[in-house]
Amino acid sequence: MSDSLLITGASQIITVRGSGPRRGTALSNIGPIANGAILVRGGSIAAVGPAAKIEKLRESRKAQRLDVDGRVVLPGFVDAHTHLIHAASRAEEYELKISGASYEEISRQGGGILNSVEKLRAASSQALKSRARRFLEKFAEYGTTTLEAKSGYGLDLTSELRILSLHKELDAEQPLEIVSTFLGAHALPAEYRGKPKGAQQYLELVEKHLLPEVANTGLAEFCDVFCERGAFSVKESRQILTAGKNHGLAPRVHAEQLSNTGATTMAIALGAASCDHLEYLKAEEIRALSRSTTVATLLPGCDFHLGLERYAPARGLIDAGAIVALATDFNPGTSPTLSMPIILSLGCSRLRMTPAEAICAATINAAYSLRRADRIGSIEPGKQADLAVFEVADYREIPYYFGVNTCWMTMKRGEIVYLRD
Ligand code: NIG
Ligand code: FE
Repeated sequence: MSDSLLITGASQIITVRGSGPRRGTALSNIGPIANGAILVRGGSIAAVGPAAKIEKLRESRKAQRLDVDGRVVLPGFVDAHTHLIHAASRAEEYELKISGASYEEISRQGGGILNSVEKLRAASSQALKSRARRFLEKFAEYGTTTLEAKSGYGLDLTSELRILSLHKELDAEQPLEIVSTFLGAHALPAEYRGKPKGAQQYLELVEKHLLPEVANTGLAEFCDVFCERGAFSVKESRQILTAGKNHGLAPRVHAEQLSNTGATTMAIALGAASCDHLEYLKAEEIRALSRSTTVATLLPGCDFHLGLERYAPARGLIDAGAIVALATDFNPGTSPTLSMPIILSLGCSRLRMTPAEAICAATINAAYSLRRADRIGSIEPGKQADLAVFEVADYREIPYYFGVNTCWMTMKRGEIVYLRD
């Protein structure tokens, strides 16, 4: 039996072919193929095109066949912003927020990120790992094939390394690809609060001890900072991101989420891979992003979950020519969803992106922000066979059926990792 696989019967294959990243009107180029077929060999895409053409290839005739029976095939989603490893939900804070407490008020009272830090430090690695494993299975059920994952609920050497080691172990032990980011500067840990020069001392710990250890162990590719009032200032963020860069970790940043701090300008100057959130972005920052290769990763799940009215200026960013990506920001405090389809729905209904734009933002542009656009993010010969198949007849129905999971099958490197019974 041949080890090639021929995927047939797709009503639409949304290839997202063509070189990334996508800006402006190119963000709508989803490269659809009606009645298409895909030939997969050794975990990679060997050929894709109209079924009539692909089925005639000599290799296709010997290949195993998988008929997707009129469904729609997309590149697997690339979720470029998650906080995968955490010990528990914060459902109790959700209720407080509904009754009027703001995210920042809860944080000031020792809840928020520090609530998650306390729980993570007390949890065993085994418990954290099995929880993350269950989440990873869910990610696959929603069509995600690659995800970025940040540390940041440890905030001491042992706990941060424990999280980053879990990223590595999970990447090796289950099919989804995990891209690891060090977020030591997520919040000032409780033991440094109220101490004179506490912030400076913690930043020194991050810079002089955590970062060198993370770099030496090779446990992260990126370094992130939460740049926000009540978290870290632009100056502090620049210090950490520069140190990370000197250790070979490319910068990403949580920027302009709850207020405008100027994080975006600082991050662009450092050549950051991505600026994420951006609800409080200003016009000149939109222009600066459009002239840069820094991706604007929008996280509408946060605004939705926190019940906030202000969403990122997606239309302005797209029309100006910035590279826009969409991600879940899966985390227990601001966005407890791991569903990229619902992020597409929010991208369409709240950010006013078209379904085509939302799909490119969730695949090729997200892959670009993770420096992997040459391998993943589109269905093209030579790329990994990372696919998501949806039980719809038209790709627009994926965001249209909001909160309904239409994902029917997910494939990672040519292996089926999820199939609805
Ligand atoms: O992306 N903003 C900072 N970090 C997360 C939230 C973390 C938390 O509340 O646990 C975010 O929104
Ligand atoms: Fe985040």
